[in-house]
Amino acid sequence: MKTVTLIPNEKQRLFFESTAKYTAYGGARGGGKSWAMRVKLILLALNYAGIQILLLRRTLPELRENHLIPMRKMLDGIADYSATEKEFRFVNGSRIRLGYCDSESDVLQFQGQAYEVIGMEEATHFTEFQFQALTESNRASGYMSRKFVPRMYFTCNPGGVGHEWVKRRFIDREFRGSEKPEDYLFIKSLVFDNSFIMNNNPEYIDALMNLPEARRKAMLYGDWDAFEGAFFPEFDPQRHVRQNVELPQGGLRFRALDYGLDMTCCLWCCVDQDGRVTVYRELYESGLLLSEAARKIIDATDKNETVRYTVASPDLWNRRQETGKSGFEIMTGTGLKQMIKADDSRITGWRIVREYLKSGSDFGAEPKLVIDSGCRNLIRCLPLLRFDERVKEDAANYPHELTHAPEALRYALMSRQPHPVPKREQSSPGIYAFADRACKSDGYEEFLAY
Ligand SMILES: Nc1ncnc2c1ncn2[C@@H]1O[C@H](COP(=O)(O)OP(=O)(O)OP(=O)(O)O)[C@@H](O)[C@H]1O
Ligand SMILES: [Mg+2]
Repeated sequence: MKTVTLIPNEKQRLFFESTAKYTAYGGARGGGKSWAMRVKLILLALNYAGIQILLLRRTLPELRENHLIPMRKMLDGIADYSATEKEFRFVNGSRIRLGYCDSESDVLQFQGQAYEVIGMEEATHFTEFQFQALTESNRASGYMSRKFVPRMYFTCNPGGVGHEWVKRRFIDREFRGSEKPEDYLFIKSLVFDNSFIMNNNPEYIDALMNLPEARRKAMLYGDWDAFEGAFFPEFDPQRHVRQNVELPQGGLRFRALDYGLDMTCCLWCCVDQDGRVTVYRELYESGLLLSEAARKIIDATDKNETVRYTVASPDLWNRRQETGKSGFEIMTGTGLKQMIKADDSRITGWRIVREYLKSGSDFGAEPKLVIDSGCRNLIRCLPLLRFDERVKEDAANYPHELTHAPEALRYALMSRQPHPVPKREQSSPGIYAFADRACKSDGYEEFLAY
């Protein structure tokens, strides 16, 4: 018989003993979070015959490194591992399935399944939508003979796309709607609580001490206020989102495109005489080749709709090795006319987006940017975008899926910024042009003049 000796530290013991509906553990680096999660789930599997457990991390490589390898070692001779199902099967009928939710929609694969226990490792890497979708699968599976009230366990650090939803429930303890305070327990654990590191790897503490200040406060001391949260706190669905928006008479229509094989996001916008922009349609689809994306954009545009230009990511003008053609050439060849290169100055661009969102908020006036409620992905991603931890005024590029719609919006609003005409073209004063970015095809004059 194989014997494994496991001695939890004081905080891990509290985590093991918690039977709250939602228990979160950690809040800083190296506090023994992953160890606690792994061991807790294994103990549950051994103790409750037939229990069905799901352990999640955001991405597959993280899951493999963080849990799969150590669990295979720990459970060798105790539970069988099925690589195809990514699950450990115990002789008592219990099961621990390992999963990941890389993109937002990956979480839907667990819909309709039932797990008495769900563990979310690094919960702040998950979005609130993913958390909420998973709570639906946290229910009796029907395989257990003993009574067991379903629960979820979380480990977490401050920062990340899920900072707000974890902090609100577990740290600030601000509850909404039907959320019950007694369902939520947070056990704070710092590296100083982890005797394994304190005894075997004290240099790790030095490494944490040497982090830049905000990060050190968060990662060493578990300070949830050290990080700035949402990149666009100015975004307020009450102000900026409208159902069935009405477009201004005679407004100028244009599109903004962030193309990628992983995701294509195209936004249809309309700007009125006062410079107010309405985003009234979106295309958001993964796996589209350049020509397919162009075709879909054309098809999604009404036949009688005049779209003056499509501002698109500058990398589309680079030649592709495989074809020798640029994305711009392929897309215009498919019929997507009047494409112009976006101004990709990120920091200026984000500042412009922020100004549009903020405009009017101080004195209750109409915002300069309105989004139709049908633009679901733009509305979903804008509040989830985070600050880049290294470049103070930039948005984080992770999770990457969240960046496409905000980037398309940035291109859109940047295309409306007046750029002084270069000297030699400055013959008629007061006229602004999108000079260097514009492709001088038909319609050019029209959108310059607007
Ligand atoms: N009770 C314990 N007994 C033995 N080893 C432990 C115990 N708790 C933690 N460890 C070990 O301490 C190290 C750090 O623990 P762990 O990886 O769980 O921390 P963490 O909080 O998840 O860290 P990170 O913030 O880097 O994700 C690991 O080598 C882990 O195996
Ligand atoms: Mg960990």
